[in-house]
Amino acid sequence: MQNFNFHNPTKLYFGKGQLTQLREELPRYGSKILLVYGGGSIKRNGLYDSTLEILNDLNMEVFELNGVEPNPRLSTARKGVDICQKENIDFILAVGGGSTIDCTKAIAVGANSDSDIWDIITKKSEAQGALPFGTVLTLAATGSEMNPGSVITNWETKEKHGWGSPFSFPVFSILDPENTFTVPRDQTVYGIVDIMSHALEHYFHHETNTLLQDRMVEGILKTVIETAPLLLDDLENYDHRATILYNGTMALNGMVSMGYHGDWATHNLEHAVSAVYDIPHGGGLAILFPNWMEYAIDANVIRFKQLATRVFDVDPTNKSDKEIGLEGIQRLRAFWNSLDAPSRLSDYDIKEDGVEEMAQKTVAASSSFGNFKSLTKEDAINIYKKSL
Ligand code: NZQ
Ligand code: ZN
Repeated sequence: MQNFNFHNPTKLYFGKGQLTQLREELPRYGSKILLVYGGGSIKRNGLYDSTLEILNDLNMEVFELNGVEPNPRLSTARKGVDICQKENIDFILAVGGGSTIDCTKAIAVGANSDSDIWDIITKKSEAQGALPFGTVLTLAATGSEMNPGSVITNWETKEKHGWGSPFSFPVFSILDPENTFTVPRDQTVYGIVDIMSHALEHYFHHETNTLLQDRMVEGILKTVIETAPLLLDDLENYDHRATILYNGTMALNGMVSMGYHGDWATHNLEHAVSAVYDIPHGGGLAILFPNWMEYAIDANVIRFKQLATRVFDVDPTNKSDKEIGLEGIQRLRAFWNSLDAPSRLSDYDIKEDGVEEMAQKTVAASSSFGNFKSLTKEDAINIYKKSL
């Protein structure tokens, strides 16, 4: 285990009725609020009305930025920065999924930095600060509600980049499982795949003596595997929604990944697919992860064997380590298939003629990527072709 420093300043409010915490939290930051949300799900399920009722009771002056896209766009974040600077906004409230929260992080940092937000995202300049912001999460998936990460797409150049800064943690996040009841089945599946993928990205490392971390990551995977089919049979089941929501936060808030670096190549591969084809993040991961695993297994077959036996209950009797590892990958694939997750790039009409452009994007920031198995553009081409 490597040395580590850990600090996560986001305050969590988890459970039924926690929206009311806005009454305590918001007055601390001022009276001019920018409310950021997506394409209208919060208007259809009543969350917009209940949020606005609280803001009105508090006599807040409310400005709105709506229409944040899934795979949020730079152009939308820039609109938000303009509103904050022109109107002297005190606080930003994101109500939505990972996309709304990620866009809010870009707005918050862009509003309080001299540089253009795209220069900060592409690491040409540094964030200098951020407007304080909080979130009301409506979809279990990204962990954005309790981490400083954000992923923004520049649709003009077809680039999708993850970035983060010490200033981009939410000051609070409200997680009421009931606010996720209306997430449709397909988006629920994408979220489940994303949560499991974060656990898997962590799991593939070469660090030794990560005994507790391994068990925590395995715990997330096993819990999600147990709960997902139950939830998909009963989308408004509070307990199952709560279990998945809590798993989503824990999978990417730093708690299970102290003292080592996970791989993260598959996320880079997926972001390149979404940058060009605008597909849902979890859908892309469901296609790419098993293929990356088969491609990377020889980098450390023991990690794959451990995953297969501990998480997927593969019987190791009379099998080589690699056979056990490969059987684990097959079980992961079969599990995601059983949830009706996509399994081939062709499910999104992506064909061989798109491979070169996507592969080029995987190495735009650096000529190789992936901490567990270092990949080049050629490797990206091979994995995409295997995923067609
Ligand atoms: O836009 P609205 O109308 O709200 O509809 C959304 C959207 O269409 C809908 N939705 C959300 N909550 C709902 C709901 N529909 C009904 N009821 C609700 N309660 O679901 C759709 C998808 O929403 P989105 O926010 O895009 O999903 P998600 O949370 O999966 O976020 C995906 C984005 O996060 C990035 C991805 O790359 C992608 O851009 N990621 C961010 C990470 C981070 N910040 O740490 C890490 C992840 O690995 C990921 O890359
Ligand atoms: Zn993800």
